[in-house]
Amino acid sequence: QNARESLYIVSEFAAGFFANELWTGDQGRAIGLSYFKERGFREDIVKKFQLGYSPDVWDALIQNAISAGHKEEYLEKTGLAIRNDKGKLYDRFRGRVMFPIHNFTGRIIGFGGRTLKTDKNVPKYVNSPESDIYHKSNVLYGLFHAKKAIRDTDNCYLVEGYADVLAAHQAGIENVVASSGTSLTTEQIRLIGRFTENVTILYDGDAAGIKASLRGLDMILEEGLNVKVVSFPDGHDPDSYMHHVGSGEFKKYIENNRKDFILYKANILLKEAGTDPIKRAGIIRDIVESIAKIPDDIKASIFIKECSSLLQVEERILLSELNKIRMAKF
Ligand code: UTP
Ligand code: MN
Ligand code: MN
Ligand code: MN
Ligand code: MN
Repeated sequence: QNARESLYIVSEFAAGFFANELWTGDQGRAIGLSYFKERGFREDIVKKFQLGYSPDVWDALIQNAISAGHKEEYLEKTGLAIRNDKGKLYDRFRGRVMFPIHNFTGRIIGFGGRTLKTDKNVPKYVNSPESDIYHKSNVLYGLFHAKKAIRDTDNCYLVEGYADVLAAHQAGIENVVASSGTSLTTEQIRLIGRFTENVTILYDGDAAGIKASLRGLDMILEEGLNVKVVSFPDGHDPDSYMHHVGSGEFKKYIENNRKDFILYKANILLKEAGTDPIKRAGIIRDIVESIAKIPDDIKASIFIKECSSLLQVEERILLSELNKIRMAKF
């Protein structure tokens, strides 16, 4: 049995322990399970994602794992346990609802733990650190549960958070992944690219989410994938919006509000620019910069046409701008 296998095994043990605490522990049931209920998550979703609860004591997992014959070494190497200055081990996750993170073959490689407190000084999520089995930049939360649906629908929805993945599944949308714990990476996009060429971004409707969506769409275009965006009103994220309008309406909303990236980007930038002509010229350049990231010339020329009619700018002006940007890259 190699060292990596030992890390998988202790992670799987921990997931089992946290799930057992959620469903049968006094604290887990009273605090953890009722938390998911209050947020409107169904039990079948809580089970499907093997959600759990970490008791609010210093060494609940460690004690249980050691009794079951697991070694301190592996608890430490997965980051489930942390050694303090005095050499004593304590649990990383305490008093949090637990989201196991699977690799795309379904093995558990890490955890996200959400606090139940509203105290702003407590970090909302604590995540497992990088380890020999958990390389954050190569992992998409939910991919294992989404793979088949991504292939079947030939589209992948990309959300920000754990709860957004759950909410989508609850609405019957299974082709969904999150770039949790890191901002979107090129490796994550390539991982999606193994299953489909079509990505639909569903990021939070707050300033941070909008900013991240603009960065994400350029990265996705650069990898040669097609990208659309659905935006949410009033600062909603997919999870809050699903619970706000209900699962049926949510599904319809997603299907009817996909914008291609040019329209999405133009809407955002035009709002910012108002009527200032100089700023509006900047927008044109900014959109052409996104088009310039598309490796396929035929696709790029289609988007140039669209941009031309949308922004009322002659195609040849856009094309010369496109060429300038492409030349500058060499
Ligand atoms: P959000 O702040 O949007 O959280 O961060 P959320 O997913 O909507 O969480 P809920 O609905 O309040 O439970 C998006 C994602 O960023 C990561 C998590 O993966 C989270 O799901 N994140 C956020 C962290 O890793 N740490 C944090 O402190 C906050
Ligand atoms: Mn790494
Ligand atoms: Mn957010
Ligand atoms: Mn959010
Ligand atoms: Mn949320």
